[in-house]
Formats: sequence, structure tokens, C-alpha cells
Amino acid sequence: MPDNTFTALLLEQEDGKQTAALKTLSRDDLPDGDVLISVAYSSLNYKDGLAVTGKAKVVRSFPMVPGIDLAGTVVESASPEFAPGDAVVLTGWGIGEKYWGGYAQMARAKAGWLVPLPENLTPKQAMGIGTAGFTAMLCVLALEAHGLSPEQGEVVVTGAAGGVGSVAAAILANLGYTVVASTGRESAHEYLRALGVSEIIDRGVLGEVSKRPLESGRWAGAVDTVGGDTLAQLLKTVRPHGSVAACGNAGGVALNTTVLPFILRGVNLLGIDSVMCPVDLRRTAWQRLATDLPLDALEQVMQVAPLADVPALSQEILQGNVRGRIVIDVNA
Ligand SMILES: NC(=O)c1ccc[n+]([C@@H]2O[C@H](COP(=O)([O-])OP(=O)(O)OC[C@H]3O[C@@H](n4cnc5c(N)ncnc54)[C@H](OP(=O)(O)O)[C@@H]3O)[C@@H](O)[C@H]2O)c1
Repeated sequence: MPDNTFTALLLEQEDGKQTAALKTLSRDDLPDGDVLISVAYSSLNYKDGLAVTGKAKVVRSFPMVPGIDLAGTVVESASPEFAPGDAVVLTGWGIGEKYWGGYAQMARAKAGWLVPLPENLTPKQAMGIGTAGFTAMLCVLALEAHGLSPEQGEVVVTGAAGGVGSVAAAILANLGYTVVASTGRESAHEYLRALGVSEIIDRGVLGEVSKRPLESGRWAGAVDTVGGDTLAQLLKTVRPHGSVAACGNAGGVALNTTVLPFILRGVNLLGIDSVMCPVDLRRTAWQRLATDLPLDALEQVMQVAPLADVPALSQEILQGNVRGRIVIDVNA
């Protein structure tokens, strides 16, 4: 292949129908940006599944290179902040949605979007983390900032066998929390125990909203990737002054609740957004990931797949069949 060409997964739209196919592109096809990156790995997140299948309006313009995450090496930089050879991570900021993303061997990005790869992580490990793991860390940071500590009691993680859930469970267990995993998958019980989870409950326990406005408080904290009725039931079962970090909607977007958990128990509902997360918090989260997520747990959570598998895997993640994290090797 000549030097300036590369392979990308390209989403195109014709007559309202979306297609996804591997294409050979040239560097000249890349959109503007001050840093050119040779991409080593990307990853698969729930949002990537929505984008690639077209099941939700994630992609704002076509043609689009999807992939909300990437890790690689700077090839050219017009910014003094980065130099050729620097290892970088990029998650969110609208890549794979509004701007071309990580499912390609080359990418161009704004310097302000990039985070230097933490020293003890490889690009592959960084994508084992990806947006999902980064979001898990943002949840833990938000819970800590609202006073959560291990001696306060059980912390529940919903959608625990998914990407965000698995990383959140592993981080919390490593920090000494008593972690309860809520999952719909019996086949994932052994996997979750290996990540350090103390107890597993069926997703149905929190998935049905009870009639009473408050139930007895059990959880000192919660990481919720499911939303909908699960989040409503969580709010009723959090202990006084406990917090729920709400980051996902895998089970629904509507939230049917009352003000009672907030005004009678001082429960905190903490919103988590990884996409436009400010730069300082990003760097803090990546540093904490490098120290608080054990690398052996990360290895258990991640599998690697080639770029060509992304369309099929996108269907799988939306059906809830993907366990943990999938790293995409864009050069395989
Ligand atoms: N706020 C942000 O910035 C941000 C960032 C990343 C992700 N997210 C969101 O967080 C969620 C998880 O993302 P992910 O990448 O971890 O996805 P994922 O790997 O597919 O995990 C989602 C998990 O949710 C559970 N689940 C799926 N459908 C469900 C349903 N109908 N009812 C109850 N549980 C269900 C499953 O867990 P079990 O098999 O264990 O039951 C599934 O593994 C998604 O909604 C995603 O959009 C938000």
C-alpha cells in the first residue's frame, strides 16, 4: 500500500440507508486537525454499536469514520503540546459521531482533545479501558467527591458484565469496596467474582419499580449503567446521604421517580458525561485508571478483535451479548 493510504471503516448513507464497509482512504481524505495520529487500537462501546448499526442517530454527518475511542502515536503535530512519537489517547469530544473517529489506521484530531498515554499503560491496555472504562472511573471519582468510602457499606454496579460495569466493579473492588454486581447473565457470575465482586444479584431485583416511594436503604453508593426503572429503584434503595453515579441508558431513558429520596434521605444523583468531560478531570481519571485498575483485572475484561469484525460486534453489543471490553486492532 502506498505510504499515505490507510484502511478505515466508513459509514455512508444513500437514500436514507446506512452502510458500513472497509475502505482504502488517503491522508488527504482526513478532516482538518492539528495532530496526525497513527492509530494502534480503538475499542467497541455501546454507542459505537448504535453508530455502526444506525439503530440510533449517533452519527451526525456522512461519510463518517466511526469509533469514539483511539490510542496511537503522533506522526505530525502543529501544536507545541505534542510531538511526533508521543503516545496519546483520545476518547469522546464527538469523534465517531460528529468528527472522524478511531476505526481507521490514521486519524487527525485537535491537540486539546488528546491525553498523553499514562506511562504504565500500553495503547492496547488504554483501549481495553476506552470510553467505557474512563466513564467507570469518572463514576468512582464522582462518588468519592460526594464522600463515599469503603467502610460506608455496599456499592452496587448495574449492567455489571458490560464494559462500564466490569471496569467499575474491578476498580471499586481493588479500592476495598464491598461490590454487589447486578447482572442479567448467569454465565457472567464466575467472571464477576474473579473481578472481586462480593455478591451478585439478578438484574430483575432492581429492574422492577416497587410501589412505595422509598424502600429500606441498602446501598452506600451505586454505579448505574442501565437507567430507566433500574435507576428509579436504585434511588429508593440508597442509604441516607448515599450517591448514585448515573452514566447509562442500556435499559431505558425515562426516569420515573419522586423527590422523596432527595429531600428525605439526601440522596445524590450524580450525572456522568464522558464526551465533553473537561481536560483536567480527564487527565486525573486516566492517572487514577493507571493506578487503581489492576492490570490483571483489565486483561480478564478485554478481548481483541480486528477492524473487519466491528459491524457484527456492533449488533452483538446492542443485544447485550458482549462481556467486558472489546479492543479493536485497526491494523489486523
Ligand atoms: N455517560 C457517558 O458518558 C457514557 C459513557 C460510556 C457509556 N455510557 C452508557 O453506559 C451504558 C453501558 O455502556 P457499555 O459500553 O458498558 O455497554 P455494554 O458493554 O453493552 O454494557 C451494558 C450492560 O447493560 C446491561 N443491559 C443491557 N440491556 C439491558 C436491559 N434492557 N436491562 C437491564 N440491563 C441491561 C447488560 O449487563 P448485564 O449483562 O450484566 O446484565 C449489558 O452488558 C450504555 O447505556 C452507554 O450508552 C455512557
